[in-house]
Formats: sequence, C-alpha cells, structure tokens
Amino acid sequence: MTTHRILILGGTTEARLLAERLAARPDLDTILSLAGRTRDPVSQPVPVRVGGFGGAEGLAHYLTENGVGILIDATHPFATRISANAAIAARQAGVPAIALRRPEWRSVQGDRWTIVKSVEEGVAALGEQPRRVFVTLGRQELAPLANAPQHVYLIRSVDPVEPPPDLPHAGYLLARGPFSEAAEHDLLRAQRIDAILAKNSGGDATYGKIAAARSLGIGIVMIRRPTAPDMPTATTVEEALLLLDHRLASPAKRGV
Ligand SMILES: NC(=O)c1ccc[n+]([C@@H]2O[C@H](COP(=O)([O-])OP(=O)(O)OC[C@H]3O[C@@H](n4cnc5c(N)ncnc54)[C@H](OP(=O)(O)O)[C@@H]3O)[C@@H](O)[C@H]2O)c1
Repeated sequence: MTTHRILILGGTTEARLLAERLAARPDLDTILSLAGRTRDPVSQPVPVRVGGFGGAEGLAHYLTENGVGILIDATHPFATRISANAAIAARQAGVPAIALRRPEWRSVQGDRWTIVKSVEEGVAALGEQPRRVFVTLGRQELAPLANAPQHVYLIRSVDPVEPPPDLPHAGYLLARGPFSEAAEHDLLRAQRIDAILAKNSGGDATYGKIAAARSLGIGIVMIRRPTAPDMPTATTVEEALLLLDHRLASPAKRGV
C-alpha cells in the first residue's frame, strides 16, 4: 500500500481532531506542526514537530525534503502569516493544499456587536468613558490597550502575559477553554464587565462568552476575520476528510 505523508499546520482544536482521525489510517503518515507558543501544549495523537519553518521558503523546503504529499492548513483563522506562507509554499513545492477553517460567528437577535478591523480600532471603539472590559485576545496582541488606559481590563489567556502591558488597571486570568455559557455568565457578572473585546474566532469552545453577553445585554467589540488565502477549504473535520480523499484520488492535480 502506498503511504501518503500529510503535514497538518495546527495549533487549533480542529487540527487535533483531524489528526486523531488521520492517525487511525494505515494509508497515511501524518505529522502535526505547532508554532511552539503554548508552554504546556495538549498531547497530540500523531508525531509533532515544533517551531517556525523560516517563512514560505523554509516551508516549501520542508515539504520537498520530507516528501509531503498533501499540506493541510488547520491553523487559527487569525494566524495570517502562516496561512499566507502555506499557500505560497504549496505552490512553490507543487504540493496540493487544503484548509480547515471553522466558520465565523454570525450575530443573532439580541447581540450588540460593534465590528472592527483591528485591535487598534477595537480599543478606540470602547470609547472615552472608562469601562470594565473583558479581553480575550492573544498575548501578543495586547499592546494597543495602552492607547486607552482609562478602562479597567480583565485579560484572559492560556499562558501568563509576559511582560504585561503597561496598564494602570488590569487584572489577569489564566484559563484554557472550552468555556461554558453558564461559567462565562457568572464571570461577566462577578467582574461587573460592561464590554468585551474579542476576535471573531468562531467555534464552540469560546462561544459561551458571546451567548452570555447576549443574555446580559453586554456589548462586544468584535474584531472581524482577516481574509484567508484562496485554497480549497473545509469548515469541519468531516469535510476536510472528504477534501483530503478527493485530493488523494486525483494525484495529478498539483498546487492549490
Ligand atoms: N492568532 C490567533 O489568534 C491564534 C489563536 C489560537 C491558536 N493559534 C495558533 O497559534 C499559532 C501561532 O499563531 P500566530 O497568530 O502567532 O501565527 P502567525 O502570526 O500566522 O505566524 C507567525 C509565524 O509563526 C510560525 N508558525 C505559526 N503557526 C505555525 C505552525 N502551526 N507550525 C509551525 N510554525 C508556525 C511561522 O514561522 P515561520 O515563518 O518561521 O515558518 C509563522 O510565520 C498557530 O499555529 C495558530 O494556529 C493562533
């Protein structure tokens, strides 16, 4: 039986779930790639490689050197650099590529969202009046909060924010999802939160805060998704398996 080597670019729950499904297949030899940002990453069902490749060139080289047959970009929708690199590298190396991206959240009746393009715009949209803001951004994205030091920020992250941003009123909460609506409701009330600054990540694991904010009438400043590179894209693990099998069945089709 021919074995196909698959490289999954991960760092998401979906990547892990996809890897779990691929691990069980004798026709595939799957490697999962992580950036290495999280100090204590969850265990993975397939062999893992950790760290950057050295840009698109480095990734293209890796694909060729390691005989990768199909590249799967299952990184976070806000991880724009690695996704752009994946598209370029796949083209350069002549390796078919597919993406797995969870759908974005859509506002429903009762939601009070202000949609913005960036963290900077989001911080400005919080307004002049001091507010108590629940922040669920990545650790590397917090610098613009310093533009609005009048607010009290509650910042939640998986690993400690080091060094912490220069903010006069900030509290830190270390936690790893998933977060239930009930727990988020309790947190928002206990902390007297009156605004949330979040990215439109999509998925169930962090939707609890969206539903809880709706029921409490709390406004969300929602950072919209960056545009993803053009690539055959699945929105669920099941769809990704179908796309993958389709690609495996048509080996002549190279590139993205
Ligand atoms: N951004 C978010 O909101 C977010 C949220 C949850 C999880 N994550 C995960 O965290 C990781 C880093 O996110 P980011 O936003 O910092 O990425 P990014 O800005 O798009 O990528 C920055 C650099 O990190 C390296 N890199 C990123 N993902 C990698 C992977 N899976 N394997 C190997 N190298 C990787 C690449 O370095 P080289 O150029 O040297 O190859 C890339 O150019 C991603 O894997 C992503 O899935 C991100």
